[in-house]
Amino acid sequence: MSLEVITATAGMVPAELYVSEREGDDATGDGTKEKPFKTGLKALMTVGKEPFPTIYVDSQKENERWDVISKSQMKSIKKMWHREQMKSDSQDKKENLEEAKKITIKNDPSLPEPKRVKINALEGYRGQRVKRLRRQGKNLMFLVLRDGTGFLQCVLADELCLCYNGVLLSTESSVAGKQAPGGHELSCDFWELIGLAPAGGADNLIDEESDIDVQLNDRHMMLRGENMSKIFRARSIITRCFRGHFFDRGYCEVAPPTLVQTQVEGGSTLFKLDYFGEEAFLTQSSQLYLEACLPALGDVFCIAQSYRAEQFRTRRHLAEYTHVEAEYPFLRFEDLLNRLEDLVLLKSPVASIVHELNLNFKPPKRPFKRMNYSDAIMWLKEHDIKKEDGTFYEFGEDIPEAPERLMTDTINEPILLCRFPVEIKSFYMQRCPEDPRLTESVDVLMPNVGEFVGGSMRIWNSEEILAGYKREGIDPTPYYWYTDQRKHGPCPHGGYGLGLERFLTYHIRDVCLYPRFVQRCKP
Ligand code: 4AD
Repeated sequence: MSLEVITATAGMVPAELYVSEREGDDATGDGTKEKPFKTGLKALMTVGKEPFPTIYVDSQKENERWDVISKSQMKSIKKMWHREQMKSDSQDKKENLEEAKKITIKNDPSLPEPKRVKINALEGYRGQRVKRLRRQGKNLMFLVLRDGTGFLQCVLADELCLCYNGVLLSTESSVAGKQAPGGHELSCDFWELIGLAPAGGADNLIDEESDIDVQLNDRHMMLRGENMSKIFRARSIITRCFRGHFFDRGYCEVAPPTLVQTQVEGGSTLFKLDYFGEEAFLTQSSQLYLEACLPALGDVFCIAQSYRAEQFRTRRHLAEYTHVEAEYPFLRFEDLLNRLEDLVLLKSPVASIVHELNLNFKPPKRPFKRMNYSDAIMWLKEHDIKKEDGTFYEFGEDIPEAPERLMTDTINEPILLCRFPVEIKSFYMQRCPEDPRLTESVDVLMPNVGEFVGGSMRIWNSEEILAGYKREGIDPTPYYWYTDQRKHGPCPHGGYGLGLERFLTYHIRDVCLYPRFVQRCKP
């Protein structure tokens, strides 16, 4: 197919157009059922601009003649159409450019010196001259400026858009119909080009419909999209709220190491590395270090990266994630559960941005439903939820993610799932005084998310911790410092870890700047 011979003949837009590779003809067809075009590109060129009508193509089904074009086919012909548009635009542009070179715009020195202002601070500068940066017609261009704090529409008229840079200007990412907070518009008397983007803008390269791996490879461009920037702004605000929560309650923030020689949550998910000839790992959790701080600092927290070598590519699993962890001395299991509720209900200024991202968001209410692991086993039996082999989950078995999610989504409220059996939990968990088969442990489960917090009371007796290592087949040698703490004035204590990306509830890879999961460690 030769793209060059196809020309645009814009006219009345029909409600539907027909394209047949088998019977169509781009030269003699008119897009009707009787005289279909041969190519989708010709159909789009005929319409000339978006929105395009429904395009019908040859059906692959036996007894059907036409089928609506698939999303992916539509996408690829749109891409070709954009390319063609750019080619024809570029010829016009060449001519305009020569004209534009003759126009120079100058900063008028008689006007007051402009002030450097961020968009979100513009309201206080109405009527004043401020510094900073879409095309409609020849003499008028609307620019939508973005500086990370907001969007601002500004109007460039006459020479300001007819000059060389004005003609050359292409959108890196266009955002239509946005106004700055307060609804103001920037009227422009002078501008200069600082850095030009390739013609066609970012949407031509990549958008939210692009293949996920392509989006991730070009993450630097995806990040500029409006939704992505909202997500990362929300993440920043929520991180600050967590810090605020802890500081308001008098906790001390600490910065534990992430290169470690001890495991916390089982050997199977450890990233191993060669540390100057010694075996080391990327930390799974900072918990052990937080525990070490308790006698000196009291309530402590950290917001640090944790790592899990999990072979899953799901909406819940990352290889590297941000772990919000806290640890408290002198508390009982009940206190730990109350503190967790308090944490999850972040009272903060996040509401508006969370609502912008998720219109159906309803903050959970206290008290959260409290349920024991043994009740969950019963619930699964009562609801006839079985394992793949057709048998029921029995006490002592791990409840995998799928049935746990089904239960949480059916109950449809946050659950503090408590008191898991010793055998399915980590070496450091304190046993329940009322039933030593169980641990004082808790997972927080949220509908549509699943588990996003894990916490427990910790063993604070040195003999018991040695038994814990033994049960889990852990060599106690590198844990000497952790065991030692249980010999020097120990006290009952507990804590938790919250996965920030799971808390944010969007798809886990969207809320991560550069997500790391199995087979992805770039860019
Ligand atoms: O339940 P986990 O394994 O608990 C701990 O690491 C404790 N040592 C924390 C503590 O008590 N200080 O992990 C805690 C949370 C999970 O609930 C989940 O939100 C998150 O960490 N998490 C992950 N997030 C993303 N990807 C993964 N592969 C994760 N693994 C755990």
